[in-house]
Amino acid sequence: MLRVLLIFGALCGCIHALDNGLARTPPMGWLAWERFRCNIDCKNDPKNCISEQLFMEMADRMVEDGYLDAGYEYINIDDCWSSKQRDSQGRLQADPDRFPSGIKALADYVHKRGLKLGIYGDYGNLTCGGYPGSLGHLEVDANTFAEWGVDMFKMDGCYADPKTMKKGYPEMTKYLNQTGRPILFSCSWPDYERASGIEVDYKLVAENCNIWRNYDDIQDSWQSVLGIVDYYAKEQDTLAAVQGPGSFNDPDMIIVGDFGLSYEQAKAQIAMWTIFAAPMLMSNDLRTIRPEFRELLLNKEVININQDSSGHFGKRVLQVTPSIQAFVRQTDGPCWPTVFLNRGSGGNPTNITVSFSDLGLPIHSVEGFDVLDLFTGAYSGYLTPDASYSYSVPPSGVVMVKIGTAE
Ligand SMILES: *[C@@H]1O[C@H](CO)[C@@H](O)[C@H](O)[C@H]1NC(C)=O
Ligand SMILES: *[C@@H]1O[C@H](CO)[C@@H](O)[C@H](O)[C@H]1NC(C)=O
Repeated sequence: MLRVLLIFGALCGCIHALDNGLARTPPMGWLAWERFRCNIDCKNDPKNCISEQLFMEMADRMVEDGYLDAGYEYINIDDCWSSKQRDSQGRLQADPDRFPSGIKALADYVHKRGLKLGIYGDYGNLTCGGYPGSLGHLEVDANTFAEWGVDMFKMDGCYADPKTMKKGYPEMTKYLNQTGRPILFSCSWPDYERASGIEVDYKLVAENCNIWRNYDDIQDSWQSVLGIVDYYAKEQDTLAAVQGPGSFNDPDMIIVGDFGLSYEQAKAQIAMWTIFAAPMLMSNDLRTIRPEFRELLLNKEVININQDSSGHFGKRVLQVTPSIQAFVRQTDGPCWPTVFLNRGSGGNPTNITVSFSDLGLPIHSVEGFDVLDLFTGAYSGYLTPDASYSYSVPPSGVVMVKIGTAE
């Protein structure tokens, strides 16, 4: 077991996660941005504009179509929800035409259904979409969100000086804490520091944020998914060291069910986000999603691994072929979720044979292994520790398995 612990770098006792009791496992839910952007044209596009109607309809779908039961609980507003003006007391206020009932009423609506509400703001003078930012208003904004009954707050970093974020984000952490309401804090801070060449102090980030973005926004494409996976794999030692219950790296939203990913690519995104123990914040249209994508999002075995209480960040451990890489994750139990990611686009699946020892598994301390394919249900039965096993990996897709110990 020691060998595995060393390989996965899990001995570090140095994480001091934000102590607000939240995000003990990666948060799951829905977030408007990737799919619905800053569409404020409710006159011509009433079904898809950023409005209370949109969030109420998504909340209904989350409850009625099984997402809440599967663990997706946050429904999160992103940019472009507010009025361009603060109110007479300097508080943010929702756009009166698109959110006529106000955010508090929307929070009540989702709470009644067992969901939680997230909201969006920005550390700078303006949000990325040009709405009022929180610079100079951090405390009043924290108090406003708490009064409304908000459960999660994503603070973006447009129109702000990244050099001030090491001071500014922790200030917001303090104000959120002082409200007395547990509010999950999602920070864009490390991404802005990275993009402007400032060294990220991840220890400080983990102490102040429940989840944090490190890299570019996800777009609706396979190329975007691979770019994020590559960045995470390149930085895996740094990112793994600061992740655990209460504090998670956030590779951005799940785009399964949108326009850009094939079925196999959609599996791949879910598999890789599960290897990284990443937040599962879907950004898709739950009113029209195709059933096969919904089924992927509701895969119980995969969600159980994503939500494993260890919060371990899995790593790239092996280049199997020029186009296939193996990623392995630890869990609380004697079980190693493993993904073979095929970046190739040759038309046929590639057959690979990989030994447990190649994957870094503890071959000297177990009696044997078994392998369960999480998407097909195929099961290997007992295999000796020194055995190899074969996998057929589709182009631009994955095989995702759970390797357990067997006798
Ligand atoms: C505020 O911080 C203290 C000390 O870290 C913690 O015990 C408490 O639960 C926090 N409260 C909220 C609402 O986050
Ligand atoms: C924010 O706005 C103030 C007032 O216009 C300005 O002085 C300051 O430089 C701005 N800050 C940033 C980071 O853009």
